Amino acid sequence: MSSVYFDQVSEAAAYLQSKLGAPKPSLAPSVAIVLGSGLGAVADSVENPILIPYGEIPHFPQSTVEGHSGRIVAGKLSGTPVIVMQGRVHFYEGYTPLQVTFPMRVLGLAGIRTVVLTNAAGGIAPGLSIGQLVALSDHINALGFNPLTGPNEPRFAITPKSGLRFFDMTEAYSKPLRTLAQQAAQQEGWTLEEGIYLATPGPSFETPAEIRAFRTLGATLVGMSTVPETIVARHMGIEVLGISCVTNLAAGLGAAQLSHEEVFEAGRRVQHRLAGLLKRLVPTIATGISSKQ
Ligand code: HPA
Repeated sequence: MSSVYFDQVSEAAAYLQSKLGAPKPSLAPSVAIVLGSGLGAVADSVENPILIPYGEIPHFPQSTVEGHSGRIVAGKLSGTPVIVMQGRVHFYEGYTPLQVTFPMRVLGLAGIRTVVLTNAAGGIAPGLSIGQLVALSDHINALGFNPLTGPNEPRFAITPKSGLRFFDMTEAYSKPLRTLAQQAAQQEGWTLEEGIYLATPGPSFETPAEIRAFRTLGATLVGMSTVPETIVARHMGIEVLGISCVTNLAAGLGAAQLSHEEVFEAGRRVQHRLAGLLKRLVPTIATGISSKQ
């Protein structure tokens, strides 16, 4: 990773902060939410939104996928400052691992301490149903790359013990955040189960034989995003909550054929439940962050 990349991230973060009015540190968002396929409407819950199209932010990659709008919606969720990324870019679009994780780097340098990564996923475990939301307890990186390959850049550290060349991934997805999310779901009247997300490069869906192999490996969900962002977030010291929306049963387990439309539609149907969860959850996360400072 060259220092050109670090400078580009810094420039983008400074731009973002200038758009947010460079608020006093106590008012700046510490929580960000990244919305996956079909889940974009969560951004509609943001109060007094400031809209920043990705194309406006220096060096920011722009999504080419239908259903990923490609803008930042910054404002308040239940009174708590938040940055929502409506749309993300993927490796299968032809972006490099450094481009895919550029937005996460920007969020970290702009002051984000906790990120909620949402995605659409195929359900592998028996018992998962379409429309179910699942909190990630762990992941399996089957992308064939790691976004941290190359020289280490310690200036990306946002906490004293982060930014290391080698770092721990034992609790990549924060247990305390998961517990908070499960409590919030309970209050909303439903149960948030846990799952293990395996990321493939895509863009083809999997074969039934691949799904059987992934199940043997211990995966309960499959998708094409999130893992690079989680790795980079943990490198920086950002806490991660991962939430998958089961948009379809994985290949060979349900409908005869999989399609992007099906994935997108299922996401659309569940996004209001996701919004309800996040509205309840985000204030409790932000309270936890400020009590640690
Ligand atoms: N496989 C991979 N990615 C996905 C799927 C799937 O079945 N559903 C939503 N994203």
